[in-house]
Amino acid sequence: MAVSIKSAREIELMRKAGELLAMVHDELGKAIRPGMSTQEVNELGTRLIRDCGCVPNFLHYNGYPAAICVSVNDEVVHGIPRKDRLLKEGDIVSLDAGLIYKGYHSDAARTHAVGKISAEAQQLIDVTRQSFFEGIKMARAGCHLHDISAAIDAYVSRFGYGIVRDLVGHGIGTSLHEDPQIPNFAQKRKGVRLQPGMTLAVEPMINAGGWKVNFLKDGWTVVTKDGSLSAHYENTILITDGEPEILTMPRGGLSPVI
Ligand code: MF3
Ligand code: CO
Repeated sequence: MAVSIKSAREIELMRKAGELLAMVHDELGKAIRPGMSTQEVNELGTRLIRDCGCVPNFLHYNGYPAAICVSVNDEVVHGIPRKDRLLKEGDIVSLDAGLIYKGYHSDAARTHAVGKISAEAQQLIDVTRQSFFEGIKMARAGCHLHDISAAIDAYVSRFGYGIVRDLVGHGIGTSLHEDPQIPNFAQKRKGVRLQPGMTLAVEPMINAGGWKVNFLKDGWTVVTKDGSLSAHYENTILITDGEPEILTMPRGGLSPVI
């Protein structure tokens, strides 16, 4: 379907929604430590979102029971926070969070190390993050949507990792999920032509092993089929006349931490 083009006023609201979510993620990242339960992560995230006057958009979305998706190790995305699921040294944990500010949504994900992790796990986190930046080199007016997909695929494939195919990025705005869908692997078609004012959530989900995933009986949690580690990195971006603007990072671009 049609991809919405945001007005100058809408872009200002999306910027604010993104800026606040960047702050939430920075605080969550600082709080992660061994012994913390995934439910505590969710409680902190919920509080941070509400304290800045925003609404958590994931809570009750299609019945999802929390504000933050907390996915540990072989969990790819949509892990449900639990009091009895404690993070331990050596784990990796993916936090996916989103909020609504004055009717406009933001969505972003980060994968963090819990204490000291293996070099292999760190590489998976780094490559997943970098694949987002490789992808958005193509997030420019005049390029096509699937140029982003192809760039992510080309970069990740060099490492032999599996790119999750069952879940994709998406347009975002007055809804969490808008058109278009944004696959993280190469496509046959070119996809829509990118235009200034489009706002997109680009979110590579990368497995250390194969690309296949299972959906758990809890109705939400997605895990790697082969039990390998998985990482996730996502930002909400704005297509402009030049470089894409990353809305869910501290203003001015790259955060030094993550
Ligand atoms: N970033 C996730 C996505 O785009 C949001 C999780 S949706 C929820 O699908 F249902 F888990 F809240
Ligand atoms: Co998303």
